[in-house]
Amino acid sequence: MLEAIFTHQKIIPVITLDRVEDAVPLAEALSNGGLDVLEVTFRTEAAAAAIQAIRDQVPAVTVGAGTVTSPKILQAAETAGATFFVSPGATDGLLAAADPKSFLPGVATLSEMMRAFDAGFRVQKFFPAEALGGTRFLNSVSAPLPQLQFCATGGIHAGNLAAYLALPSVLAIGGSWMVPAGYIRAGKWDDITRLAKTACSLAVSAIGPGLDKTVQSKGSLSHE
Ligand code: 3PG
Repeated sequence: MLEAIFTHQKIIPVITLDRVEDAVPLAEALSNGGLDVLEVTFRTEAAAAAIQAIRDQVPAVTVGAGTVTSPKILQAAETAGATFFVSPGATDGLLAAADPKSFLPGVATLSEMMRAFDAGFRVQKFFPAEALGGTRFLNSVSAPLPQLQFCATGGIHAGNLAAYLALPSVLAIGGSWMVPAGYIRAGKWDDITRLAKTACSLAVSAIGPGLDKTVQSKGSLSHE
């Protein structure tokens, strides 16, 4: 299912919400800009209710949970109705509790990548991408570990996303640059839609139409 999500959409907005009431207008703003797969991080008290509100009120959007750092948070995210789950790392408890079809473990070293792969997780979150060496690191990883695929996040923005999406091992990238906290606080939904549209067109130019890594295929994703 992660592969299907990242084939459908190459850029995942990583959202942190202080107020539950911002969840629905934000999800609509991103969806209007062409981004209908979103990740809401469990970094605030509002996370679970925000995921639930988006799930219930914006059916066009597929909402995942981020910052899932323990099995307890995984459980809370499942209860809230998240479709997929993302962690900055990978503990034994999470690797045992999570489903490789819907959980993206965070990895930063080759040993972590190999360990997560041994546990069944072929698609992984490379985080924090830029701080770790970015595309140069990922390029070096592909020779010894060609079976792995990544969603890269951490320090990615409109100016460097194309270099990531050009790598065969990168299925998608994530980032928070199109959902600035100040815009959310001020309800600047049109500006967020504009940033989302720019992100989508950058992804299209990075990958090109008609290639395997289809951007924004038509129709919504199944939540199954
Ligand atoms: C994440 O958890 O993926 C990051 O917070 C996103 O990174 P960014 O804020 O540097 O885009």
